[in-house]
Amino acid sequence: MTQGPGLVGSLLVGVSFAKAAAAAAGLPLVAVHHLAGHIESLVLQNGEMPLPAVVLVVSGGHTSLYLVDRPGHYERLSRTRDDAAGEAYDKVAKLLDLGYPGGPVIDRLARNGNDRAVALPTTRLTHADRNAPELTGDLDFSFSGLKTAVLRHVRAHEGPFSEQETADICASFQRIVVTVLIDRLFAAARRYHAKSVGIAGGVSANSRLRAALTQRGERREIPTFLPSLSLSTDNAAMIAAAGLRKFRAGMIATLNLNADAGLAI
Ligand SMILES: Nc1ncnc2c1ncn2[C@@H]1O[C@H](COP(=O)(O)OP(=O)(O)OP(=O)(O)O)[C@@H](O)[C@H]1O
Ligand SMILES: [Mg+2]
Repeated sequence: MTQGPGLVGSLLVGVSFAKAAAAAAGLPLVAVHHLAGHIESLVLQNGEMPLPAVVLVVSGGHTSLYLVDRPGHYERLSRTRDDAAGEAYDKVAKLLDLGYPGGPVIDRLARNGNDRAVALPTTRLTHADRNAPELTGDLDFSFSGLKTAVLRHVRAHEGPFSEQETADICASFQRIVVTVLIDRLFAAARRYHAKSVGIAGGVSANSRLRAALTQRGERREIPTFLPSLSLSTDNAAMIAAAGLRKFRAGMIATLNLNADAGLAI
C-alpha cells in the first residue's frame, strides 16, 4: 500500500483500507513510497536494471533524479526547484486552451510543429539549494521560467493562434523540456558511473522523450529503461512491484503505521 507522499486525504483512505484488509485476512502489510513505485515500474516492465542505475521520475508532481545503487535503495540526487515538468505541460496547455491533461495533447500537436519557431529559454541552475544542502544543485530542474516565457509569447500575440502557430509553440516548448531532462539524466549517469538509465512517471509517456532516451542511450552505449504507456502514469501494479521487493527483503509494516504526506524515500 502507498504510505506517501501525496494528498493526505487519499493516502488515509488507502492506508486505512490496507490495514483493515491485512488484519482481517491475516496478511502482512507492506508500506510503499509512491516514487519507489514509479521507479519499480521499470523493473516490472523490463526485469532488473544493471546497477548502479540513474532514474528520472518525471510526473505531474515530481521531476527528480534518483541513484539506485542496490536493489530497493533509492538516493535522491536532484529535484525541481519549482514546477514539475508535467505541471509545466498542464499549465502551457491551459494557456493555449488545449484542456487537461496537457501532456498528451501537446505531444500530439508538437509533431506538426517547427521546434525552432519560438525562442524559449533553458534554465541552468548552478547554485546550491539552501533548502536541500545535501543536493549539489547543478542537477536540479526548473520549469517556471519556461512556462512564463510561453505566457509572454501568448500575451504578445494579437488575436488567436492559427493551428500551425499552436503546433510551433508546442514543439518549441517540448524541445526545451526534453533537452533539459535528457541532458541532466545523462550528466548524472556519467557522474555516478551508471550501468543503466531509466525514465518513469506520467511524462515518460512522451513520444519525443522516449525517442531521445533511446537515441542518447545508443550513442553512450548504456542500456535504457522505460515503462509501457499503461505503467507510466499512476497505477497499482507498480506499487505492488515495489511492495513485493520490500516483502522479500522482510520489510513488513505494523498496524501502527500512518499515512505520511511528506514521506522521504
Ligand atoms: N505524452 C505525454 N507527454 C508529456 N506529459 C504527459 C504525457 N502523458 C501524460 N503526461 C503528464 O503526466 C502527468 C500525470 O502523470 P502522473 O499520473 O504520474 O502524475 P501525478 O500523479 O499527477 O504526479 P505524482 O506521480 O508526482 O504524484 C500530467 O502532468 C500529464 O500532463
Ligand atoms: Mg504518480
